[in-house]
Amino acid sequence: MLKRLDELQDQALKQVEQAADSAALAQVESAYTGKKGEITTVLRSIGTLPADERKAVGEKANVVKQAVDAAIASRADALKASELGAAMQAGAIDVTLPGRPLPVGRIHPANQTLRELAAIWAEMGFQVYRSRDVEDDDTNFTLLNLPPHHPARDMWDTFHTTQPGVLLRTHTSPGQIHAMRQYAPEPIRIILPGMCYRYEQVSARSEVQFNQLEGLAVGYNIHMTDLKGTIVAFARRMFGEKVAVRFRSSHFPFTEPSIEVDVECFLCGGEGCAVCKKTGWLEIAGAGMVHPVVLKNGGYDPSKFSGFAFGMGPERMTMLRHGITDIRYFWGNDPRFLEQF
Ligand code: FA5
Repeated sequence: MLKRLDELQDQALKQVEQAADSAALAQVESAYTGKKGEITTVLRSIGTLPADERKAVGEKANVVKQAVDAAIASRADALKASELGAAMQAGAIDVTLPGRPLPVGRIHPANQTLRELAAIWAEMGFQVYRSRDVEDDDTNFTLLNLPPHHPARDMWDTFHTTQPGVLLRTHTSPGQIHAMRQYAPEPIRIILPGMCYRYEQVSARSEVQFNQLEGLAVGYNIHMTDLKGTIVAFARRMFGEKVAVRFRSSHFPFTEPSIEVDVECFLCGGEGCAVCKKTGWLEIAGAGMVHPVVLKNGGYDPSKFSGFAFGMGPERMTMLRHGITDIRYFWGNDPRFLEQF
Protein backbone atom coordinates (compact mmCIF):
# COMPACT_ATOMS: atom_id res chain seq x y z
CA MET A 1 0.00 0.00 0.00
CA LEU A 2 2.89 2.35 0.80
CA LYS A 3 4.34 1.71 -2.64
CA ARG A 4 0.94 2.36 -4.21
CA LEU A 5 0.81 5.71 -2.40
CA ASP A 6 4.25 6.66 -3.79
CA GLU A 7 3.00 5.82 -7.29
CA LEU A 8 -0.15 7.86 -6.79
CA GLN A 9 1.91 10.84 -5.62
CA ASP A 10 4.24 10.60 -8.62
CA GLN A 11 1.32 10.30 -11.05
CA ALA A 12 -0.65 13.11 -9.43
CA LEU A 13 2.29 15.55 -9.31
CA LYS A 14 3.12 14.81 -12.93
CA GLN A 15 -0.48 15.40 -14.05
CA VAL A 16 -0.70 18.59 -11.98
CA GLU A 17 2.38 19.87 -13.73
CA GLN A 18 0.94 18.95 -17.13
CA ALA A 19 -2.52 20.51 -16.56
CA ALA A 20 -2.72 23.14 -19.30
CA ASP A 21 -5.62 25.12 -17.86
CA SER A 22 -7.89 25.45 -14.82
CA ALA A 23 -10.41 22.95 -16.22
CA ALA A 24 -7.74 20.26 -16.69
CA LEU A 25 -6.40 20.94 -13.18
CA ALA A 26 -9.89 20.53 -11.73
CA GLN A 27 -10.08 17.09 -13.36
CA VAL A 28 -6.74 16.07 -11.82
CA GLU A 29 -7.93 17.28 -8.43
CA SER A 30 -11.13 15.31 -8.65
CA ALA A 31 -9.22 12.17 -9.76
CA TYR A 32 -6.87 12.19 -6.75
CA THR A 33 -8.02 14.28 -3.84
CA GLY A 34 -11.69 14.87 -4.76
CA LYS A 35 -14.55 13.05 -2.94
CA LYS A 36 -14.08 9.93 -5.01
CA GLY A 37 -10.38 10.53 -5.76
CA GLU A 38 -7.86 7.73 -5.41
CA ILE A 39 -5.91 9.26 -2.49
CA THR A 40 -9.19 10.03 -0.68
CA THR A 41 -10.27 6.41 -1.20
CA VAL A 42 -7.01 5.17 0.38
CA LEU A 43 -7.54 7.47 3.37
CA ARG A 44 -11.10 6.20 3.82
CA SER A 45 -10.01 2.57 3.62
CA ILE A 46 -7.43 2.81 6.42
CA GLY A 47 -9.90 1.42 8.98
CA THR A 48 -10.17 -1.83 6.99
CA LEU A 49 -6.39 -2.46 7.03
CA PRO A 50 -4.65 -4.86 9.46
CA ALA A 51 -3.91 -2.91 12.70
CA ASP A 52 -0.11 -3.00 12.26
CA GLU A 53 -0.27 -1.31 8.84
CA ARG A 54 -2.72 1.40 9.76
CA LYS A 55 -0.34 3.90 11.35
CA ALA A 56 2.30 3.85 8.62
CA VAL A 57 -0.25 3.92 5.77
CA GLY A 58 -2.26 6.67 7.49
CA GLU A 59 0.79 8.86 7.95
CA LYS A 60 2.00 8.27 4.41
CA ALA A 61 -1.45 8.90 2.90
CA ASN A 62 -1.68 12.25 4.72
CA VAL A 63 1.79 13.30 3.59
CA VAL A 64 0.91 12.38 -0.01
CA LYS A 65 -2.42 14.24 0.16
CA GLN A 66 -0.73 17.36 1.53
CA ALA A 67 1.93 17.25 -1.17
CA VAL A 68 -0.67 16.86 -3.93
CA ASP A 69 -2.92 19.58 -2.43
CA ALA A 70 0.01 21.99 -2.24
CA ALA A 71 1.01 21.24 -5.85
CA ILE A 72 -2.57 21.77 -7.03
CA ALA A 73 -2.84 25.10 -5.16
CA SER A 74 0.39 26.46 -6.57
CA ARG A 75 -0.44 25.25 -10.11
CA ALA A 76 -3.90 26.88 -9.77
CA ASP A 77 -2.28 30.21 -8.89
CA ALA A 78 0.08 30.01 -11.83
CA LEU A 79 -2.68 29.05 -14.27
CA LYS A 80 -4.97 31.85 -13.02
CA ALA A 81 -2.23 34.43 -13.52
CA SER A 82 -1.41 33.25 -17.04
CA GLU A 83 -5.11 33.00 -18.00
CA LEU A 84 -5.72 36.56 -16.77
CA GLY A 85 -2.71 37.75 -18.74
CA ALA A 86 -4.02 36.05 -21.88
CA ALA A 87 -7.53 37.50 -21.38
CA MET A 88 -6.10 40.97 -20.98
CA GLN A 89 -4.03 40.58 -24.07
CA ALA A 90 -7.02 39.32 -26.08
CA GLY A 91 -9.23 42.21 -24.98
CA ALA A 92 -6.53 44.83 -25.15
CA ILE A 93 -7.54 48.21 -26.60
CA ASP A 94 -5.42 49.79 -29.29
CA VAL A 95 -5.46 53.39 -28.19
CA THR A 96 -3.93 54.48 -31.50
CA LEU A 97 -7.03 53.39 -33.51
CA PRO A 98 -9.23 56.27 -34.74
CA GLY A 99 -12.43 56.71 -32.68
CA ARG A 100 -15.82 55.51 -33.88
CA PRO A 101 -17.74 58.43 -35.41
CA LEU A 102 -20.77 59.44 -33.34
CA PRO A 103 -23.93 60.38 -35.24
CA VAL A 104 -24.09 64.15 -35.08
CA GLY A 105 -27.36 66.08 -35.15
CA ARG A 106 -27.81 69.12 -37.32
CA ILE A 107 -29.80 72.30 -37.41
CA HIS A 108 -33.37 71.93 -38.66
CA PRO A 109 -33.83 73.44 -42.13
CA ALA A 110 -36.42 75.93 -40.84
CA ASN A 111 -33.99 77.03 -38.12
CA GLN A 112 -31.20 77.32 -40.66
CA THR A 113 -33.33 79.81 -42.58
CA LEU A 114 -34.34 81.61 -39.37
CA ARG A 115 -30.68 82.00 -38.40
CA GLU A 116 -29.80 83.28 -41.83
CA LEU A 117 -32.67 85.77 -41.70
CA ALA A 118 -31.67 86.89 -38.19
CA ALA A 119 -28.06 87.41 -39.33
CA ILE A 120 -29.16 89.57 -42.27
CA TRP A 121 -31.53 91.66 -40.18
CA ALA A 122 -28.89 92.03 -37.45
CA GLU A 123 -26.53 93.43 -40.06
CA MET A 124 -29.24 95.99 -40.85
CA GLY A 125 -29.64 96.99 -37.19
CA PHE A 126 -32.60 94.84 -36.14
CA GLN A 127 -32.42 93.09 -32.76
CA VAL A 128 -34.22 89.84 -31.93
CA TYR A 129 -37.21 90.25 -29.63
CA ARG A 130 -38.67 87.05 -28.16
CA SER A 131 -42.39 87.02 -27.63
CA ARG A 132 -44.68 84.39 -26.13
CA ASP A 133 -46.43 81.58 -28.06
CA VAL A 134 -49.46 81.56 -25.73
CA GLU A 135 -51.33 84.82 -26.10
CA ASP A 136 -54.50 86.47 -24.99
CA ASP A 137 -57.21 87.30 -27.48
CA ASP A 138 -56.74 91.04 -26.99
CA THR A 139 -53.07 91.08 -27.93
CA ASN A 140 -53.40 88.59 -30.79
CA PHE A 141 -56.39 90.40 -32.31
CA THR A 142 -58.10 93.40 -30.66
CA LEU A 143 -55.03 95.56 -30.00
CA LEU A 144 -53.92 94.86 -33.57
CA ASN A 145 -57.07 96.55 -34.80
CA LEU A 146 -59.03 93.30 -35.13
CA PRO A 147 -61.94 93.79 -32.71
CA PRO A 148 -64.25 90.86 -31.87
CA HIS A 149 -66.45 89.92 -34.84
CA HIS A 150 -64.05 91.57 -37.31
CA PRO A 151 -64.39 89.46 -40.49
CA ALA A 152 -60.60 89.21 -40.91
CA ARG A 153 -60.46 87.09 -37.74
CA ASP A 154 -61.81 84.22 -39.86
CA MET A 155 -58.47 84.06 -41.69
CA TRP A 156 -56.65 83.47 -38.43
CA ASP A 157 -58.61 80.81 -36.60
CA THR A 158 -56.51 79.18 -33.91
CA PHE A 159 -56.32 76.73 -31.00
CA HIS A 160 -57.92 77.95 -27.81
CA THR A 161 -56.92 76.86 -24.32
CA THR A 162 -59.51 75.87 -21.75
CA GLN A 163 -59.05 79.30 -20.21
CA PRO A 164 -61.39 81.73 -22.04
CA GLY A 165 -59.53 84.32 -24.09
CA VAL A 166 -56.18 82.47 -23.94
CA LEU A 167 -54.99 81.04 -27.24
CA LEU A 168 -51.97 80.03 -29.31
CA ARG A 169 -50.83 83.03 -31.35
CA THR A 170 -51.79 82.96 -35.02
CA HIS A 171 -48.95 85.24 -36.07
CA THR A 172 -45.93 86.97 -34.53
CA SER A 173 -47.65 90.39 -34.80
CA PRO A 174 -48.91 90.42 -31.15
CA GLY A 175 -45.21 90.65 -30.22
CA GLN A 176 -45.36 94.16 -31.72
CA ILE A 177 -47.68 95.21 -28.89
CA HIS A 178 -45.44 93.72 -26.17
CA ALA A 179 -42.33 95.34 -27.62
CA MET A 180 -43.98 98.74 -28.10
CA ARG A 181 -45.38 98.76 -24.57
CA GLN A 182 -41.95 97.82 -23.25
CA TYR A 183 -39.99 100.44 -25.19
CA ALA A 184 -42.41 103.40 -25.78
CA PRO A 185 -41.55 106.22 -26.33
CA GLU A 186 -38.10 105.01 -27.49
CA PRO A 187 -37.60 104.13 -31.17
CA ILE A 188 -37.71 100.42 -32.04
CA ARG A 189 -35.98 98.28 -34.64
CA ILE A 190 -36.60 94.58 -33.98
CA ILE A 191 -37.36 91.23 -35.54
CA LEU A 192 -39.65 88.73 -33.83
CA PRO A 193 -39.06 85.13 -34.88
CA GLY A 194 -41.13 82.22 -33.60
CA MET A 195 -43.77 79.57 -33.92
CA CYS A 196 -47.35 80.40 -34.88
CA TYR A 197 -50.44 78.21 -34.86
CA ARG A 198 -53.52 78.12 -37.01
CA TYR A 199 -56.55 75.91 -37.04
CA GLU A 200 -56.62 75.34 -40.74
CA GLN A 201 -56.65 72.60 -43.31
CA VAL A 202 -53.19 71.02 -43.51
CA SER A 203 -51.96 70.90 -47.08
CA ALA A 204 -48.72 70.88 -49.05
CA ARG A 205 -48.40 74.64 -48.41
CA SER A 206 -50.08 75.08 -45.02
CA GLU A 207 -49.34 73.57 -41.64
CA VAL A 208 -51.10 74.04 -38.31
CA GLN A 209 -47.79 75.21 -36.86
CA PHE A 210 -45.11 77.17 -38.65
CA ASN A 211 -42.55 79.88 -38.04
CA GLN A 212 -42.89 83.52 -38.87
CA LEU A 213 -40.34 86.28 -38.77
CA GLU A 214 -41.89 89.61 -37.98
CA GLY A 215 -40.11 92.94 -38.31
CA LEU A 216 -40.99 96.23 -36.65
CA ALA A 217 -39.48 99.70 -36.88
CA VAL A 218 -41.01 102.62 -34.96
CA GLY A 219 -39.60 106.13 -34.79
CA TYR A 220 -39.84 109.64 -36.21
CA ASN A 221 -40.35 110.29 -39.91
CA ILE A 222 -40.48 106.66 -40.99
CA HIS A 223 -42.12 106.47 -44.40
CA MET A 224 -43.28 103.91 -46.94
CA THR A 225 -40.06 104.57 -48.87
CA ASP A 226 -38.10 103.37 -45.82
CA LEU A 227 -40.12 100.16 -45.78
CA LYS A 228 -39.58 99.59 -49.49
CA GLY A 229 -35.87 100.40 -49.34
CA THR A 230 -35.33 98.18 -46.31
CA ILE A 231 -37.16 95.24 -47.92
CA VAL A 232 -35.18 95.62 -51.16
CA ALA A 233 -31.91 95.75 -49.18
CA PHE A 234 -32.96 92.58 -47.35
CA ALA A 235 -34.00 90.77 -50.54
CA ARG A 236 -30.65 91.51 -52.19
CA ARG A 237 -28.76 90.12 -49.21
CA MET A 238 -30.96 87.04 -49.05
CA PHE A 239 -31.57 86.24 -52.73
CA GLY A 240 -28.72 87.97 -54.56
CA GLU A 241 -27.64 91.47 -55.63
CA LYS A 242 -29.59 91.43 -58.87
CA VAL A 243 -32.96 90.14 -57.62
CA ALA A 244 -35.95 92.20 -58.68
CA VAL A 245 -38.52 93.07 -56.00
CA ARG A 246 -42.20 93.84 -56.61
CA PHE A 247 -44.74 95.42 -54.24
CA ARG A 248 -48.46 94.73 -54.56
CA SER A 249 -51.13 96.52 -52.57
CA SER A 250 -52.86 94.37 -50.00
CA HIS A 251 -54.81 94.58 -46.77
CA PHE A 252 -53.94 93.81 -43.16
CA PRO A 253 -56.00 95.41 -40.36
CA PHE A 254 -52.83 96.34 -38.43
CA THR A 255 -51.06 98.17 -41.28
CA GLU A 256 -52.18 101.06 -43.48
CA PRO A 257 -51.29 101.07 -46.30
CA SER A 258 -50.52 97.35 -46.62
CA ILE A 259 -48.47 95.55 -49.24
CA GLU A 260 -47.34 92.08 -50.27
CA VAL A 261 -43.73 91.64 -51.33
CA ASP A 262 -42.69 89.42 -54.25
CA VAL A 263 -39.17 88.65 -55.44
CA GLU A 264 -38.31 87.57 -58.96
CA CYS A 265 -38.31 83.76 -59.03
CA PHE A 266 -34.72 82.80 -58.31
CA LEU A 267 -35.25 79.32 -59.69
CA CYS A 268 -36.20 80.33 -63.23
CA GLY A 269 -34.87 83.90 -63.20
CA GLY A 270 -38.37 85.26 -63.86
CA GLU A 271 -39.02 83.08 -66.91
CA GLY A 272 -41.86 81.19 -65.24
CA CYS A 273 -41.61 77.68 -63.76
CA ALA A 274 -43.60 75.19 -61.69
CA VAL A 275 -42.46 76.72 -58.38
CA CYS A 276 -43.55 80.26 -59.24
CA LYS A 277 -46.61 78.87 -61.00
CA LYS A 278 -45.44 80.38 -64.30
CA THR A 279 -45.72 83.93 -62.91
CA GLY A 280 -41.97 84.59 -62.56
CA TRP A 281 -42.56 85.96 -59.01
CA LEU A 282 -42.47 84.48 -55.51
CA GLU A 283 -44.31 86.00 -52.56
CA ILE A 284 -42.02 86.46 -49.54
CA ALA A 285 -43.79 88.79 -47.09
CA GLY A 286 -46.79 90.79 -46.01
CA ALA A 287 -45.97 94.31 -44.82
CA GLY A 288 -47.16 97.86 -44.36
CA MET A 289 -47.03 101.05 -42.30
CA VAL A 290 -48.07 100.41 -38.70
CA HIS A 291 -51.72 101.42 -38.30
CA PRO A 292 -52.23 104.52 -36.07
CA VAL A 293 -54.57 102.48 -33.83
CA VAL A 294 -51.81 99.91 -33.26
CA LEU A 295 -49.23 102.61 -32.54
CA LYS A 296 -51.62 104.10 -29.99
CA ASN A 297 -52.29 100.71 -28.40
CA GLY A 298 -48.54 100.27 -28.13
CA GLY A 299 -48.16 103.57 -26.28
CA TYR A 300 -46.90 105.81 -29.12
CA ASP A 301 -48.53 109.06 -30.22
CA PRO A 302 -49.40 108.45 -33.90
CA SER A 303 -49.20 112.18 -34.65
CA LYS A 304 -45.49 112.08 -33.76
CA PHE A 305 -44.44 108.51 -34.44
CA SER A 306 -44.73 106.27 -37.45
CA GLY A 307 -43.38 102.85 -38.30
CA PHE A 308 -43.39 99.89 -40.61
CA ALA A 309 -43.87 96.18 -40.03
CA PHE A 310 -43.50 93.04 -42.08
CA GLY A 311 -44.08 89.30 -41.64
CA MET A 312 -42.43 86.49 -43.56
CA GLY A 313 -42.68 82.68 -43.52
CA PRO A 314 -39.31 80.91 -43.13
CA GLU A 315 -40.67 77.45 -44.06
CA ARG A 316 -42.14 78.72 -47.31
CA MET A 317 -38.85 80.47 -48.07
CA THR A 318 -36.95 77.23 -47.35
CA MET A 319 -39.34 75.33 -49.62
CA LEU A 320 -38.70 77.75 -52.46
CA ARG A 321 -34.97 77.58 -51.96
CA HIS A 322 -34.64 73.81 -51.92
CA GLY A 323 -37.57 72.91 -54.15
CA ILE A 324 -39.39 71.19 -51.22
CA THR A 325 -42.82 70.30 -52.48
CA ASP A 326 -44.63 69.63 -49.19
CA ILE A 327 -44.49 71.67 -45.96
CA ARG A 328 -45.52 68.60 -43.94
CA TYR A 329 -41.95 67.25 -44.20
CA PHE A 330 -40.76 69.97 -41.81
CA TRP A 331 -42.44 68.52 -38.72
CA GLY A 332 -42.81 64.92 -39.93
CA ASN A 333 -39.68 63.82 -37.99
CA ASP A 334 -38.40 61.77 -40.90
CA PRO A 335 -34.58 61.66 -40.71
CA ARG A 336 -34.39 60.94 -44.46
CA PHE A 337 -35.77 64.45 -45.04
CA LEU A 338 -33.77 66.16 -42.28
CA GLU A 339 -30.44 64.56 -43.22
CA GLN A 340 -30.51 66.34 -46.57
CA PHE A 341 -29.85 69.74 -45.03
C1 FA5 B 1 -49.72 87.57 -41.26
O1 FA5 B 1 -49.71 86.64 -40.44
C2 FA5 B 1 -49.37 88.95 -40.83
N1 FA5 B 1 -49.27 89.04 -39.42
C3 FA5 B 1 -48.08 89.38 -41.52
C4 FA5 B 1 -47.80 90.85 -41.38
C5 FA5 B 1 -47.00 91.30 -40.36
C6 FA5 B 1 -48.37 91.76 -42.27
C7 FA5 B 1 -46.77 92.66 -40.22
C8 FA5 B 1 -48.14 93.10 -42.16
C9 FA5 B 1 -47.34 93.56 -41.13
P1 FA5 B 1 -50.19 86.02 -43.29
O2 FA5 B 1 -51.39 85.34 -42.74
O3 FA5 B 1 -50.19 86.28 -44.74
O4 FA5 B 1 -49.93 87.39 -42.56
O5 FA5 B 1 -48.89 85.13 -42.93
C10 FA5 B 1 -47.60 85.60 -43.19
C11 FA5 B 1 -46.72 84.47 -43.71
O6 FA5 B 1 -46.76 83.35 -42.80
C12 FA5 B 1 -47.19 83.87 -45.03
O7 FA5 B 1 -46.70 84.63 -46.11
C13 FA5 B 1 -46.60 82.50 -45.00
O8 FA5 B 1 -45.25 82.53 -45.40
C14 FA5 B 1 -46.66 82.15 -43.53
N2 FA5 B 1 -47.84 81.32 -43.26
C15 FA5 B 1 -49.10 81.70 -43.03
N3 FA5 B 1 -49.91 80.64 -42.80
C16 FA5 B 1 -49.13 79.55 -42.90
C17 FA5 B 1 -49.37 78.15 -42.77
N4 FA5 B 1 -50.55 77.64 -42.45
N5 FA5 B 1 -48.31 77.31 -42.94
C18 FA5 B 1 -47.09 77.80 -43.22
N6 FA5 B 1 -46.80 79.09 -43.35
C19 FA5 B 1 -47.80 79.97 -43.20
